[in-house]
Amino acid sequence: MKESKIKPAGQASLGIEGKNFDLPMLAGSQGPNAVDIRKLYDQADVITYDPGFTSTASTESNITFIDGDKGVLQYRGYPIDQLAEHSSFLETCYLLLYGDLPTASQMEKFTYTITRHTMVHEQLASFFRGFRRDAHPMAIMCGVVGALSAFYHDSTDINDPKQREIASHRLVAKMPTIAAMAYKYHVGQPFVYPRNELGYTDNFLRMCFSVPAEDYKVNKVLSKALDTIFILHADHEQNASTSTVRLAGSSGANPFACIAAGIACLWGPAHGGANEAALKMLMEIGTVDKVPEYVKRVKDKSSGLRLMGFGHRVYKNYDPRAKAMQIQAHAVLDELGLHDDPLLKVAIELERIALQDDYFIEKKLYPNIDFYSGITLKALGFPTSMFTALFALARTVGWIAQWKEMLEDPHQKIGRPRQIYTGPTERAYVPMSQRK
Ligand code: CMC
Repeated sequence: MKESKIKPAGQASLGIEGKNFDLPMLAGSQGPNAVDIRKLYDQADVITYDPGFTSTASTESNITFIDGDKGVLQYRGYPIDQLAEHSSFLETCYLLLYGDLPTASQMEKFTYTITRHTMVHEQLASFFRGFRRDAHPMAIMCGVVGALSAFYHDSTDINDPKQREIASHRLVAKMPTIAAMAYKYHVGQPFVYPRNELGYTDNFLRMCFSVPAEDYKVNKVLSKALDTIFILHADHEQNASTSTVRLAGSSGANPFACIAAGIACLWGPAHGGANEAALKMLMEIGTVDKVPEYVKRVKDKSSGLRLMGFGHRVYKNYDPRAKAMQIQAHAVLDELGLHDDPLLKVAIELERIALQDDYFIEKKLYPNIDFYSGITLKALGFPTSMFTALFALARTVGWIAQWKEMLEDPHQKIGRPRQIYTGPTERAYVPMSQRK
């Protein structure tokens, strides 16, 4: 069990019908202070109402920090732009799981461990074959990742720290294999086994794009871009899918079941599916000259249109991930000789116009990570149906780090929100013959 690092930060007072209730204030290391309402129901017989948890901290966490107004995102204190530039996805995984950047020998050991867990049980291949060919990769991922609990019994005891660690290594290692198998099944090509001499992302690209008929050489520029996309998506504090993983885990469910729950939540278009929508919008606009007209339509509320890839619930400034994403988008399109890509031109013009338009300035609408990730993933050769599966692959390490943190938290309780009930009050059962 880890010790809480929350510090007392004075008192708040809440007046309810003439009675005053003192509530402790709590402080973390960065971010707003919190009013501790844990005893409020006991003491005052009232509950708080906060659909979507917009003002509610569900947990203490020392993994990821976001300051949405300033456009800050840090993993374990390290700014995301520095990690995107200097780190690798596997090193970022270590950072998220263990709290610090690894030394050379820690990294060597971690890389060895992850690499030796990349194969999946051979019987899992038959599991894939049970799906229809046109199954969405995310449908396959939900099913197959949940099924891992049936294959790896020796890492499902959540009370054993060693088993928790093995489960976390297995999940980080096997997600690329499973995502690549979902892709191969989707396109009707044979599964490709992992190769231990390749790095994490090189190996994933090979499992997706090599075929038995010819050799496959990993392009380092494309691999760096995908690795960066994985870093940018690795964690994002208590978002919907992470909260889902924590909620599922709070009941004592095994790690594979919890991650399957996270994948299901991520699948929704309001969460993991936005880059696909941004790409579709760029295709619909088509050419640079149509951008002003499109922006005009977006500003007209009656059109119901939104600029996809713009705006964010938390960031009211430039999404810090979008900057790193834009750099990688350019690198990939340059490498592939696609710098004249009409979609990129439309994206640049759209961003230019929107960033100087009063409507977007006043509402603090800036490009988010999804604005450029769709173009990049398309250029890398992935079909849009794979976009969310790639997000799930990258976010798995964040989910599992948050799941482990929750289990080590002395204040951990089963998640059980309350409600404001508005249904019928008590009434007597009416026999069917007397019902009108
Ligand atoms: N285009 C045009 N207007 C917008 C947009 C947009 N993309 N986003 C918000 N607005 C307007 C909205 O109409 C509202 O205007 P008003 O105050 O006049 O009614 C105002 O801005 C506030 O909107 P909101 O819906 O209350 O803001 P929110 O914080 O609840 O929404 C959002 C955040 C991401 C759902 C929204 O900005 C949006 O729909 N963006 C497009 C979809 C998108 O790119 N999603 C990816 C998010 S990043 C992925 C991730 O981190 O998981």
